[in-house]
Amino acid sequence: MSRIKANRMDLTYMRYQDEFEKKALDVLRSGWYILGHELSSFEEEWASYIGTKYCVGLASGLDALWISFRLLGVGEGDEVIVCANAYIACVMGITMNGATPVFVEPDGYDNIDASLIEEKITPKTKAILAVHLYGQCCDMDTIMDIAKRHDLRVVEDCAQSHGNHFNGRRAGTFGDVACFSFYPSKGCGAFGDGGAIVTNDSDLRDRFRTFRNYGSEKRYHFKVVGANSRLDELQAGLLSVKLKHLDELNAERAEIADRYTKGIDHPDITLPRVRPGADSTWHQYVIHTPRRDELMNYLLEKDIDTLIHYPIPPHLSEAYSYLGHKKGDFPITERYADEVLSLPMYNGMTKEDQQYVIDMINAF
Ligand SMILES: Cc1ncc(COP(=O)(O)O)c(C=O)c1O
Repeated sequence: MSRIKANRMDLTYMRYQDEFEKKALDVLRSGWYILGHELSSFEEEWASYIGTKYCVGLASGLDALWISFRLLGVGEGDEVIVCANAYIACVMGITMNGATPVFVEPDGYDNIDASLIEEKITPKTKAILAVHLYGQCCDMDTIMDIAKRHDLRVVEDCAQSHGNHFNGRRAGTFGDVACFSFYPSKGCGAFGDGGAIVTNDSDLRDRFRTFRNYGSEKRYHFKVVGANSRLDELQAGLLSVKLKHLDELNAERAEIADRYTKGIDHPDITLPRVRPGADSTWHQYVIHTPRRDELMNYLLEKDIDTLIHYPIPPHLSEAYSYLGHKKGDFPITERYADEVLSLPMYNGMTKEDQQYVIDMINAF
């Protein structure tokens, strides 16, 4: 048996190789590579899939985040509430605008503990960033209720949540704006960098469109100081192909997750739980164990690769030392950073490989 990798992106490419290659050739031969009909078609398809009125394609998930806060008017002196175990890009999206992240500990589903949000609200709080980590939605009922009562904007980070639901609605349909990354390893992953926002607000949509193109609505007429953040035609075309298969890809991941959940049985391992009323895209299958490093090394010896999402919480990363946090400030988050382990999870993973992972873990 060959080594089992934590993730494989080549298998999905090979599964739909003819469709991807036909689309790539069509775009290459079209002679039009930026802001064309591939992008506008994909934007329509993505908005319709998620269940919002509009989508604006951007260059990355990080761009989607920082531009969202910028256009919602979040800046210097403002505070944004975010889970402390988020990916670093979530925090950068806030701080790139000069705003301050206010961290909240995660719940038993690895997402922000919504019951702890209200105590963090101050007169400076402008927004909540709901990061749907590992493929599962945050408790959006509670978050939207808090936001309404305190007049806060809500940004959803759906980078890892392409198509999952909470109480019958898809991730991305709750907030003022939702941000997506199409980084290759994501559910609807591109073949390079890419991102997008979705929203129901036509004014906001127009401002994103202007901002992503150097702040111009009309060629050489610059309305605001913007950015170059456009999802290119090649990626947009390839994403349209991927999107057609996203539901079947998500269903396959759910089967893998189900097999892990039914098969893994070890007294030192806690398996991921799904919030009542929600489903997961299983972007990652993340277990918790106090013996994480030992398990990781043991699996490595058994030819099984795993990953840690994420080993250093943002408040302890060097980049954010200026915020003045120290070890012990967020004990649940810090414990999670020491005990989470992402098992191999990718489309095209064979049943034999899944069973081998289960057997090796149970024998640990
Ligand atoms: C939760 C989350 N937010 C934001 C990002 C940033 O996306 P990108 O890599 O496209 O900038 C990522 C992934 O990389 C992510 O996982």
